[in-house]
Amino acid sequence: MSEGFVLKGDLCFSRASGDLEVMENAYLVCADGVCKGAYQELPEEFSSLPLTDHQNRLIVPGLVDLHVHAPQYTFWGLGMDLELIQWLNRHTFPEESKYEDLSYAEKAYRAFADEVYRGPNTRAVVFATRHTPATLLLMDILEGSGLAAYVGKVNMDRNGIPPLQEESAEASLADTEIWLQAALGEKRYANVKPILTPRFIPSCTDGLMSGLKAVQRSYGLPVQSHLSENQGEVAWVRELCPGAGSYAQAYDAFGMFGGDTPTVMAHCVWMSDEEIELMRKRQVFVAHCPQSNMNLSSGIAPVRRFLDAGIPVGLGSDVAGGSHTSIFRAMSDAIQVSKLYWRLVDESCRALTLEEAFYLGTLGGGAFFGNIGSFLPGYEFDALVIDDSRNLDTGPLDMQSRLARVVYQPDRNVIEEKYVRGKNIFDRPLGNAGFKKASKEEGVV
Ligand code: GUN
Ligand code: FE
Repeated sequence: MSEGFVLKGDLCFSRASGDLEVMENAYLVCADGVCKGAYQELPEEFSSLPLTDHQNRLIVPGLVDLHVHAPQYTFWGLGMDLELIQWLNRHTFPEESKYEDLSYAEKAYRAFADEVYRGPNTRAVVFATRHTPATLLLMDILEGSGLAAYVGKVNMDRNGIPPLQEESAEASLADTEIWLQAALGEKRYANVKPILTPRFIPSCTDGLMSGLKAVQRSYGLPVQSHLSENQGEVAWVRELCPGAGSYAQAYDAFGMFGGDTPTVMAHCVWMSDEEIELMRKRQVFVAHCPQSNMNLSSGIAPVRRFLDAGIPVGLGSDVAGGSHTSIFRAMSDAIQVSKLYWRLVDESCRALTLEEAFYLGTLGGGAFFGNIGSFLPGYEFDALVIDDSRNLDTGPLDMQSRLARVVYQPDRNVIEEKYVRGKNIFDRPLGNAGFKKASKEEGVV
């Protein structure tokens, strides 16, 4: 067995939604980047592997951000008094226009990658901008950080602003081809992959959507977009697509809604029963972004209904709709908004538990990447070793209580090691990206 090792510590991971496994002083075995299992007693066959005893440290799977806009990190926290469409026009589109300039893009994308590198997320599904060179630069920077990601060059050929909107469907498709040839050629990336990214229906003409479907088919790519985030947006889509029965069907009409096309849709706040049924049938992932939905006054997504229906769900920061990158923060936000949904909207929808929210931020979102987000045997070895001792000031806590504190007060966590596919990305010669982990004094959210 090459490249094997054992971590000893207090393990915490999901087996399924709401099914949390906790194991104190237990052994976690990695070989060739893959988890061999979590054990209370170390099996004889692994006894010769190098072992590190992380006494009193929590070890959890790396967190998965299923929806984030890298170019929007530069204006997090701004414009939060607006709703979606005004916010896009006044803040988002002007900011994204700047990524034509590669030196601006480099500065901004390094800041974004540095933030994610220091934090608890090991994987992300990322929107870039419409610009091909800047999107490749973002992919290079993320690859250099050691994080794993899907990254999309954005497609948008209508309803943008002049410097950002693409000239035509043909121009958008031609740029997409150039981007894919560069991203997929010459084995450029190990941990970063392309994902097709029509911004949302209001940004994409029918010609562009049909063309993207052809691209999707020829490269076998997954797809990410936005769905039913805001009521004004939903009404606009009804006007733009009078023939489609619903917003979901507007994507489905172009074969961009799950089935053979792995798809993740951000938000899904305002969904009809028929759309929920279509998502279930096509196994479209929901990227639930509670903080963004609060900041932009979008509403509360009915996550309990999605889970009960058997729809795959993960969590997204949706920076800069959301103003924090940490998926620990998204977990507590998801619990809190689910309580408001239960109290104010539908008392038949039980609030999310801590165990369920932890599942969503690890295994739930991880499933979009494959076997990711758990310590079950065969899962890729993404893990965080967390010193949570700043939370232990009132005496020893049980594992569930420690996890609750880590989720609700993530700025007290110190992440000591961060593994992606079996490599501790905090423990390697600084790559071209020059990333540094945060010091104990700084803490890490
Ligand atoms: N819908 C279309 N584009 C965007 C975006 O950049 N952010 C959010 N939150 N929703 C969108
Ligand atoms: Fe978004």
